[in-house]
Amino acid sequence: MRVVFLGAPGVGKGTQADRVSVQFGHPKISTGDILREAVRNQTSLGQQAKACMDAGKLVPDEVVIGIVKAKLAELVCAKGFLLDGFPRTVAQAEALNRLLEDAKVRLDQVVNVIVPRDELVKRLSGRRSCPTCQAVYHVDYRQPKRADVCDQCGGALMQRSDDRREAVETRLAVYEEQTAPLIAFYRARGILADIDGTGSIEEVYVRLMRVLPVRGSA
Ligand code: AP5
Repeated sequence: MRVVFLGAPGVGKGTQADRVSVQFGHPKISTGDILREAVRNQTSLGQQAKACMDAGKLVPDEVVIGIVKAKLAELVCAKGFLLDGFPRTVAQAEALNRLLEDAKVRLDQVVNVIVPRDELVKRLSGRRSCPTCQAVYHVDYRQPKRADVCDQCGGALMQRSDDRREAVETRLAVYEEQTAPLIAFYRARGILADIDGTGSIEEVYVRLMRVLPVRGSA
Protein backbone atom coordinates (compact mmCIF):
# COMPACT_ATOMS: atom_id res chain seq x y z
CA MET A 1 0.00 0.00 0.00
CA ARG A 2 1.26 3.47 -0.85
CA VAL A 3 -0.38 6.00 1.40
CA VAL A 4 -0.02 9.69 2.29
CA PHE A 5 -1.12 10.89 5.75
CA LEU A 6 -2.43 14.44 5.48
CA GLY A 7 -3.69 16.72 8.24
CA ALA A 8 -2.89 19.67 10.46
CA PRO A 9 -0.07 19.56 13.03
CA GLY A 10 -1.10 17.32 15.93
CA VAL A 11 -3.95 15.41 14.24
CA GLY A 12 -2.10 12.16 14.96
CA LYS A 13 -0.57 11.41 11.54
CA GLY A 14 2.67 10.12 13.01
CA THR A 15 0.94 8.07 15.73
CA GLN A 16 -1.32 6.31 13.24
CA ALA A 17 1.35 5.90 10.54
CA ASP A 18 3.66 4.25 13.10
CA ARG A 19 1.00 1.74 13.98
CA VAL A 20 0.19 0.93 10.35
CA SER A 21 3.91 0.58 9.67
CA VAL A 22 4.33 -1.96 12.48
CA GLN A 23 1.17 -3.87 11.64
CA PHE A 24 1.71 -4.17 7.89
CA GLY A 25 5.49 -3.91 7.64
CA HIS A 26 5.50 -0.89 5.34
CA PRO A 27 8.27 1.64 5.94
CA LYS A 28 7.22 5.09 7.11
CA ILE A 29 8.90 8.18 5.70
CA SER A 30 8.43 11.14 8.04
CA THR A 31 10.07 14.29 6.73
CA GLY A 32 9.73 15.84 10.21
CA ASP A 33 11.68 12.94 11.81
CA ILE A 34 14.37 13.08 9.10
CA LEU A 35 14.77 16.84 9.53
CA ARG A 36 14.88 16.62 13.36
CA GLU A 37 17.57 13.96 13.15
CA ALA A 38 19.58 16.18 10.80
CA VAL A 39 19.24 19.09 13.25
CA ARG A 40 20.43 16.89 16.15
CA ASN A 41 23.40 15.65 14.13
CA GLN A 42 24.19 19.21 12.99
CA THR A 43 24.48 18.18 9.35
CA SER A 44 24.31 20.82 6.62
CA LEU A 45 20.66 19.81 6.03
CA GLY A 46 19.99 20.30 9.73
CA GLN A 47 21.64 23.71 9.71
CA GLN A 48 19.47 24.78 6.75
CA ALA A 49 16.28 23.46 8.36
CA LYS A 50 16.63 24.47 12.03
CA ALA A 51 15.52 28.11 11.90
CA CYS A 52 12.45 27.29 9.78
CA MET A 53 11.43 24.42 12.05
CA ASP A 54 11.89 26.33 15.31
CA ALA A 55 9.73 29.14 13.93
CA GLY A 56 7.05 26.69 12.77
CA LYS A 57 7.57 27.52 9.09
CA LEU A 58 8.08 25.08 6.23
CA VAL A 59 11.55 24.07 5.10
CA PRO A 60 12.03 25.08 1.42
CA ASP A 61 10.42 22.70 -1.10
CA GLU A 62 13.64 21.87 -2.93
CA VAL A 63 15.31 20.71 0.31
CA VAL A 64 12.42 18.45 1.33
CA ILE A 65 11.82 17.09 -2.18
CA GLY A 66 15.51 16.11 -2.32
CA ILE A 67 15.17 14.13 0.93
CA VAL A 68 12.05 12.29 -0.20
CA LYS A 69 13.50 11.56 -3.62
CA ALA A 70 16.45 9.76 -2.07
CA LYS A 71 14.24 7.76 0.32
CA LEU A 72 11.67 6.83 -2.31
CA ALA A 73 14.39 5.60 -4.65
CA GLU A 74 15.12 2.93 -2.00
CA LEU A 75 11.46 2.06 -1.55
CA VAL A 76 9.51 2.16 -4.80
CA CYS A 77 10.18 -1.50 -5.50
CA ALA A 78 9.03 -2.50 -2.02
CA LYS A 79 5.43 -3.52 -1.35
CA GLY A 80 4.57 -0.04 -0.19
CA PHE A 81 5.37 2.99 1.95
CA LEU A 82 3.67 5.50 4.21
CA LEU A 83 4.38 9.20 3.83
CA ASP A 84 3.91 11.26 7.01
CA GLY A 85 4.27 15.04 6.67
CA PHE A 86 4.97 15.00 2.91
CA PRO A 87 3.73 16.43 0.62
CA ARG A 88 2.88 19.69 2.34
CA THR A 89 2.60 22.09 -0.59
CA VAL A 90 1.17 21.78 -4.09
CA ALA A 91 4.73 21.97 -5.48
CA GLN A 92 5.70 18.99 -3.29
CA ALA A 93 2.62 17.03 -4.40
CA GLU A 94 3.47 17.67 -8.05
CA ALA A 95 7.07 16.58 -7.45
CA LEU A 96 5.79 13.40 -5.77
CA ASN A 97 3.57 12.67 -8.78
CA ARG A 98 6.58 12.95 -11.07
CA LEU A 99 8.73 10.68 -8.87
CA LEU A 100 6.01 8.03 -8.76
CA GLU A 101 5.32 8.28 -12.50
CA ASP A 102 9.02 7.80 -13.24
CA ALA A 103 8.95 4.70 -11.02
CA LYS A 104 5.70 3.53 -12.71
CA VAL A 105 3.81 3.27 -9.42
CA ARG A 106 0.87 5.24 -8.08
CA LEU A 107 -0.51 6.35 -4.74
CA ASP A 108 -3.32 4.15 -3.44
CA GLN A 109 -4.76 6.52 -0.86
CA VAL A 110 -4.42 9.91 0.79
CA VAL A 111 -5.89 9.93 4.29
CA ASN A 112 -6.99 13.35 5.52
CA VAL A 113 -7.26 13.27 9.32
CA ILE A 114 -9.56 15.94 10.81
CA VAL A 115 -9.43 17.26 14.41
CA PRO A 116 -10.82 20.58 15.78
CA ARG A 117 -8.29 23.31 16.46
CA ASP A 118 -8.64 23.44 20.27
CA GLU A 119 -7.92 19.71 20.48
CA LEU A 120 -4.88 20.13 18.20
CA VAL A 121 -3.45 22.73 20.58
CA LYS A 122 -3.98 20.35 23.55
CA ARG A 123 -2.31 17.47 21.74
CA LEU A 124 0.69 19.54 20.67
CA SER A 125 1.25 21.29 24.00
CA GLY A 126 1.14 17.95 25.87
CA ARG A 127 3.26 15.96 23.44
CA ARG A 128 6.56 14.51 24.64
CA SER A 129 8.96 12.78 22.25
CA CYS A 130 11.99 10.57 22.57
CA PRO A 131 14.86 12.18 20.65
CA THR A 132 16.65 8.82 20.50
CA CYS A 133 14.03 6.47 18.99
CA GLN A 134 11.35 9.05 17.97
CA ALA A 135 8.60 7.42 20.07
CA VAL A 136 5.77 9.85 20.82
CA TYR A 137 3.81 10.25 24.09
CA HIS A 138 1.35 12.67 25.64
CA VAL A 139 1.24 13.93 29.21
CA ASP A 140 -2.47 13.01 29.49
CA TYR A 141 -3.46 10.85 26.52
CA ARG A 142 -0.48 8.51 26.13
CA GLN A 143 1.64 8.41 29.24
CA PRO A 144 4.91 6.47 29.43
CA LYS A 145 5.16 3.85 32.21
CA ARG A 146 7.75 6.02 34.04
CA ALA A 147 7.34 9.80 33.94
CA ASP A 148 9.52 11.41 31.24
CA VAL A 149 11.25 8.12 30.32
CA CYS A 150 10.77 6.40 26.95
CA ASP A 151 9.17 2.93 27.28
CA GLN A 152 11.00 1.70 24.19
CA CYS A 153 14.60 2.77 24.75
CA GLY A 154 14.83 4.39 28.20
CA GLY A 155 15.71 7.79 26.70
CA ALA A 156 14.71 11.06 28.40
CA LEU A 157 11.50 12.47 26.89
CA MET A 158 11.50 16.07 25.70
CA GLN A 159 9.13 18.69 24.41
CA ARG A 160 9.76 19.57 20.75
CA SER A 161 10.96 23.16 20.31
CA ASP A 162 8.16 23.76 17.77
CA ASP A 163 5.48 22.68 20.26
CA ARG A 164 5.83 26.01 22.09
CA ARG A 165 2.68 28.13 21.88
CA GLU A 166 3.96 30.74 19.37
CA ALA A 167 5.40 28.11 17.02
CA VAL A 168 2.15 26.11 17.23
CA GLU A 169 0.14 29.18 16.14
CA THR A 170 2.48 29.67 13.18
CA ARG A 171 2.32 25.98 12.21
CA LEU A 172 -1.48 25.99 12.23
CA ALA A 173 -1.55 29.14 10.06
CA VAL A 174 1.04 27.69 7.67
CA TYR A 175 -1.02 24.51 7.43
CA GLU A 176 -4.16 26.46 6.43
CA GLU A 177 -2.32 28.53 3.87
CA GLN A 178 0.06 26.02 2.26
CA THR A 179 -1.06 22.46 3.06
CA ALA A 180 -4.87 22.56 3.22
CA PRO A 181 -5.04 23.19 -0.59
CA LEU A 182 -3.80 19.60 -0.99
CA ILE A 183 -7.19 18.37 0.19
CA ALA A 184 -8.80 19.66 -3.03
CA PHE A 185 -5.75 18.56 -5.04
CA TYR A 186 -6.15 14.90 -4.00
CA ARG A 187 -9.95 14.93 -3.83
CA ALA A 188 -9.99 15.91 -7.51
CA ARG A 189 -7.87 12.82 -8.21
CA GLY A 190 -10.36 10.56 -6.42
CA ILE A 191 -7.93 9.15 -3.87
CA LEU A 192 -8.73 11.23 -0.77
CA ALA A 193 -10.49 9.73 2.26
CA ASP A 194 -11.45 11.98 5.19
CA ILE A 195 -11.36 10.45 8.65
CA ASP A 196 -12.47 11.84 11.99
CA GLY A 197 -9.31 12.04 14.15
CA THR A 198 -11.11 12.70 17.45
CA GLY A 199 -11.49 10.07 20.16
CA SER A 200 -8.86 7.63 21.38
CA ILE A 201 -5.87 6.50 19.34
CA GLU A 202 -7.54 3.08 19.07
CA GLU A 203 -10.85 4.54 17.83
CA VAL A 204 -9.04 6.53 15.15
CA TYR A 205 -7.11 3.43 14.08
CA VAL A 206 -10.33 1.47 13.61
CA ARG A 207 -11.67 4.27 11.37
CA LEU A 208 -8.41 4.28 9.46
CA MET A 209 -8.63 0.55 8.78
CA ARG A 210 -12.00 1.12 7.10
CA VAL A 211 -10.45 3.38 4.46
CA LEU A 212 -6.98 1.92 3.90
CA PRO A 213 -6.50 -0.52 1.03
CA VAL A 214 -5.85 -3.48 3.36
CA ARG A 215 -7.51 -6.82 3.97
CA GLY A 216 -8.04 -8.33 7.43
CA SER A 217 -8.83 -6.83 10.79
CA ALA A 218 -7.13 -4.03 12.71
P1 AP5 B 1 6.29 17.31 11.39
O1 AP5 B 1 7.11 16.55 12.35
O2 AP5 B 1 5.78 16.64 10.17
O3 AP5 B 1 5.13 18.00 12.22
P2 AP5 B 1 3.57 18.23 11.93
O4 AP5 B 1 3.02 17.97 10.58
O5 AP5 B 1 3.39 19.59 12.44
O6 AP5 B 1 2.91 17.09 12.65
P3 AP5 B 1 3.17 16.69 14.09
O7 AP5 B 1 4.33 15.74 14.16
O8 AP5 B 1 3.21 17.89 14.97
O9 AP5 B 1 1.80 15.96 14.44
P4 AP5 B 1 1.18 14.56 14.03
O10 AP5 B 1 -0.03 14.80 13.20
O11 AP5 B 1 2.20 13.60 13.51
O12 AP5 B 1 0.67 14.13 15.48
P5 AP5 B 1 1.26 13.07 16.52
O13 AP5 B 1 0.96 11.69 16.02
O14 AP5 B 1 2.66 13.39 16.91
O15 AP5 B 1 7.08 18.61 10.89
C1 AP5 B 1 7.77 19.45 11.77
C2 AP5 B 1 8.44 20.58 11.00
O16 AP5 B 1 9.39 20.02 10.04
C3 AP5 B 1 7.50 21.44 10.15
O17 AP5 B 1 6.89 22.49 10.91
C4 AP5 B 1 8.46 21.97 9.08
O18 AP5 B 1 9.27 23.00 9.58
C5 AP5 B 1 9.36 20.76 8.81
N1 AP5 B 1 8.81 19.88 7.75
C6 AP5 B 1 8.43 18.58 7.89
N2 AP5 B 1 7.98 18.10 6.73
C7 AP5 B 1 8.06 19.12 5.83
C8 AP5 B 1 7.71 19.25 4.46
N3 AP5 B 1 7.17 18.24 3.77
N4 AP5 B 1 7.93 20.45 3.86
C9 AP5 B 1 8.48 21.49 4.51
N5 AP5 B 1 8.82 21.44 5.83
C10 AP5 B 1 8.61 20.26 6.48
O19 AP5 B 1 0.28 13.36 17.75
C11 AP5 B 1 0.37 14.60 18.45
C12 AP5 B 1 0.15 14.34 19.96
O20 AP5 B 1 -1.19 13.89 20.16
C13 AP5 B 1 1.05 13.23 20.54
O21 AP5 B 1 1.37 13.57 21.85
C14 AP5 B 1 0.16 11.97 20.51
O22 AP5 B 1 0.50 11.06 21.53
C15 AP5 B 1 -1.22 12.58 20.74
N6 AP5 B 1 -2.28 11.86 20.05
C16 AP5 B 1 -2.24 11.30 18.81
N7 AP5 B 1 -3.45 10.77 18.50
C17 AP5 B 1 -4.26 11.02 19.59
C18 AP5 B 1 -5.62 10.71 19.89
N8 AP5 B 1 -6.42 10.06 19.02
N9 AP5 B 1 -6.11 11.13 21.09
C19 AP5 B 1 -5.33 11.79 21.97
N10 AP5 B 1 -4.02 12.10 21.74
C20 AP5 B 1 -3.50 11.71 20.56
